[in-house]
Amino acid sequence: MDNPLASANKVALVTGAAVRVGREIALTLAKAGCDIVVHYRNSVKQAQEVANEIRAMGQKAECISADLTDSNAIDELFLKVLDRFGRLDILVNSAAVFARTPVGELDEADFDFHINMNLKAPYLCSIAAAKLMHDGGAIINIADVAAERPFKNHVPYCVSKAGLLMLTRGLAKGLAPAIRVNAVSPGTVLFRDDEDEAARNFVISRIPMGDVGTPKDIATAVRFLAIEATYVTGQILAVDGGRSLH
Ligand SMILES: NC(=O)c1ccc[n+]([C@@H]2O[C@H](COP(=O)([O-])OP(=O)(O)OC[C@H]3O[C@@H](n4cnc5c(N)ncnc54)[C@H](OP(=O)(O)O)[C@@H]3O)[C@@H](O)[C@H]2O)c1
Repeated sequence: MDNPLASANKVALVTGAAVRVGREIALTLAKAGCDIVVHYRNSVKQAQEVANEIRAMGQKAECISADLTDSNAIDELFLKVLDRFGRLDILVNSAAVFARTPVGELDEADFDFHINMNLKAPYLCSIAAAKLMHDGGAIINIADVAAERPFKNHVPYCVSKAGLLMLTRGLAKGLAPAIRVNAVSPGTVLFRDDEDEAARNFVISRIPMGDVGTPKDIATAVRFLAIEATYVTGQILAVDGGRSLH
């Protein structure tokens, strides 16, 4: 749906929009006619490149940096959104951390780190965003198949994403009827640099559709839930090639 009519004049904030999956979500929503707040933390050069691509499509784009583990920084982020755009229609909580934390080695800080970034930050961002959604809006959380199928070396990450599913359902009730809240639950779409060929082949062997997905697969689902699915709220859409069937 690249027809801008449905989303013309909408303002979308995508967290972690400078690189990888968040970047593709930002570009896809811009192509659908949204103006974009390109949130980033450290990837300033990549964020500016994304913003320039969006401007070249004829949409407005602003880069705003914020450490989402800092609640004061979240408050400042949304003040800047209000200042520069005056409103917000779509929030995509995509920024996250995914650190290797084998059970025997993980400590309290590992646990807090994942919960703060992957669960508390989407909560705080959603509450702040809702205050700027004057004409209603849509919030999309990016979860993970690991929310329901644990990775033994990433337990705090899995717990944080499991919480994000309940946050999605809870906020969908709490923010209805004006604001819809849904989640996209990706399987693997981009490998990490530290995953070797054996690890990659193992992942692929577990996917009924026989290959990993792409950031575009996730962005297309986000666009659907954010713009087109106007009677859908509180739902989790798995985009995983069937991985969650195991
Ligand atoms: N990649 C996959 O295959 C896959 C699979 C399942 C689920 N997911 C989920 O999809 C989403 C996007 O995945 P991804 O692989 O593209 O993400 P990613 O590369 O791991 O991280 C996205 C961005 O999060 C930002 N970030 C990290 N810590 C931050 C902090 N303290 N404050 C603010 N921003 C912070 C970083 O921004 P800067 O670079 O600007 O610092 C980073 O670029 C995530 O929620 C992830 O859990 C991804």
